[in-house]
Formats: sequence, C-alpha cells, structure tokens
Amino acid sequence: MTLHPQIPSTFDPVPELDLAAQYASIGSEIRTAVERVMASQQFVLGREGAALEEEIAKLCGVGHGVGVASGTDALILASRACGVQTGDEVLLPSFTFVATGSAVSALGAKPVFADIRPDTYNIDPSELGRRVTPRTRAIVVVHLYGLSADMDPILAFAKARKLPVIEDNAQAIGASYKGRHTGSFGDAACLSFYPTKNLGAYGDAGMVVTNSAGLAGRIRTLRNHGQAEKYLSSEPGWNSRLDEMQAAILRVKLRHLSNWRRARQSHAAEYNRLLSQIPGVMPPLAPEAYEHVYHQYTIRIEQRDALRKFLSKRKIGSTVYYPYPLHLQPLYSALGHKPGDFPHAERAAQEVLSLPMYPELRKEQIARVVETIAEFLKC
Ligand SMILES: Cc1ncc(COP(=O)(O)O)c(C=O)c1O
Repeated sequence: MTLHPQIPSTFDPVPELDLAAQYASIGSEIRTAVERVMASQQFVLGREGAALEEEIAKLCGVGHGVGVASGTDALILASRACGVQTGDEVLLPSFTFVATGSAVSALGAKPVFADIRPDTYNIDPSELGRRVTPRTRAIVVVHLYGLSADMDPILAFAKARKLPVIEDNAQAIGASYKGRHTGSFGDAACLSFYPTKNLGAYGDAGMVVTNSAGLAGRIRTLRNHGQAEKYLSSEPGWNSRLDEMQAAILRVKLRHLSNWRRARQSHAAEYNRLLSQIPGVMPPLAPEAYEHVYHQYTIRIEQRDALRKFLSKRKIGSTVYYPYPLHLQPLYSALGHKPGDFPHAERAAQEVLSLPMYPELRKEQIARVVETIAEFLKC
C-alpha cells in the first residue's frame, strides 16, 4: 500500500520525539534568554519566574500561577494545600503516570482508583459514585495524552459532595473542554514542564495554577520551607522552587506553543486520514467540543507488542504509555487489587501505543509510519 509519493527509503529513522529539531529552530532565542539570566545573576525567585507564573496562569484562564520544581511536586503541594492529609482517600484514575498516585502516597493518603473510559482513556465519571467513601478528601483528574477529561459530571459530583478537584494537567497545557482551558476547572491544576512535555524546560520544572488567592499563597509558602516571611516558617515545607534559568527558557518556548499545538493537531489529522484506511487500528478520539493537544498520538491495536517490535526494526520510535495500570503496580500491592478490577485500564495498558508526534514531524514521516503499520497488518 502506498500512501504518499515521497516516502523516504525504508529505513530512514522516524524518532518518537525530536527535541534537537526544536532546538535547531529556537536555539538563538534560548541562548539570548539564558544570557539575560546570567547577566542578571539572579537565579531563584526572580523576575523570570514571576513573569512565567503570570503568563501561564493567563494561558490557562486563571488568576494565579506558582512555579515549583516539578509536576510531581505540583501535585503534592496542590493536594496538601487542598487539605489532603495522612489517612485520607483520594480518587484518581488507575490509568496514568505513576506520579499521579505517588503524589497522594507522599502525603500519607491512600489512592483510590477508578476505571477509565475505553474511548478517551480518561477517568470514567460514573466510577466516582462507586468509589467514594466518607474518607474521600479530594478527586485528582488526569487529562491524559493531551485530551481533557469529561469535566461537567466530575465537577457536579465534586460539588455535591464538597470535594476539591485537582487537575493533573501535566500532559494537556493548552487543551480545552467546551471552550474552557484545562487547568481552569479544578480548585487547582498541576503542570509539568518535564523536557518531553508540549511545553518542556531544559530540566525539571512544574507549576500549580489556581483561581484561589488563598491556595496560591499557601503553595507559595509551602514551596519555600513554609516561610510566609523570610526566615519565619509557619509550617513544614521544603524547597520546591522553579529556577530563573528554566523560567526564562520556558518563556521563550511559550511564545511558540500555539504554533506547535497547531502543528501537532495537523499531524494528528494526517495520521487519522491515513489510518482510516487501515482496519484493526483505533486512532485517538477527540470528541466534539474538546480540543485535543496531542501530547501523544496514541493508537490502540490488539497486536501492540508485535507492532512495536516491527516498527523498531524499521527504526520508527514508539512508546507504551503506560504498560501497567496503577492498581497493578508493585508499589500498590498492599491495596490488594487483582487483574480484572479495572478492566478498561488493564486493556488500555495492553493495547495502547504512542506514535511519533512533535511539531517538526514531516508529512512524509507520518506516511512512512502508517505505511509500516499497514505492512505489519498486511493491508
Ligand atoms: C500525567 C502526569 N502526571 C504527573 C507527571 C509528573 O511530572 P514531573 O515529571 O514533572 O514530576 C507527569 C510527567 O512526567 C505526567 O505525565
């Protein structure tokens, strides 16, 4: 099957991600920003970080941003500021990166898992009523792969039970649901700027965004040893600050984010178009009124592991996010879950595969990926 006239020779590599291509296009802007920080000799809690907080909060459509050291710290700090403590239960989807659960565990609270919807891979809102108990203290919602969770029923459930909602928006900066940006729905939302994210730093970094001045102030204190005033600590915190170098780099990249988002969306449309000719492959769903930002372009296929090997032999990168649902992680063996407890999460873990996706990806590379999948399936 030939899908594109200019398909490169069979073994031209198609990496899953190409940060070098991104650096080639913005390197001089990045170096200028880094030079500016060097010249200022201010490295922590300075102008760059404050400006980034404002810019990211604006992009998410909320009032406040608090820069922290990572997405994981953002989750821990936001949960703590929302009142999660030792012995509490927190509802979250089983199919996510382990950090969503380990942030809850880090506070001594118990993650209570919920199954996902098989079409969007996000938490199934109808699961919440089945899993809630009198000990439930918060709900953490993940917008996996760049697609918002179905927020209306989740927010209605949370409101009825007076539970705070924390959005794990690590993968979905810039996404929207019914015209509103992810990050603006919950009491607080957490961003990761891990280098591979749609907006990635040159190291670790993260942010909490919120509309609540009270929560923002509390997180500002917690990220800096609980110091509400210099050298006066009112509660235990630690050092989770986002440094000026990362902030300056992120501000450069932020200027490109909407173009990069459009490029990802156009690549996804091209993948969708080509894959529609191939039975046996389920492309990602982007329901009406949701704007997917394609942090990952994730297909579903029964012969996932064999396909991954086949692609790899032809130098095409792909990754499984994630091969184990949280309820079956050794980390959570004490919770006593067994295979079959969350069937949609388990099946997704066996069948999902993320294909190359980054703004600089070329049309002919997409064609080569899809042609190789067709070859594997002998279409
Ligand atoms: C869904 C999700 N939650 C949390 C995190 C944790 O972010 P970080 O790696 O910045 O700590 C990540 C990214 O790694 C993620 O993808």
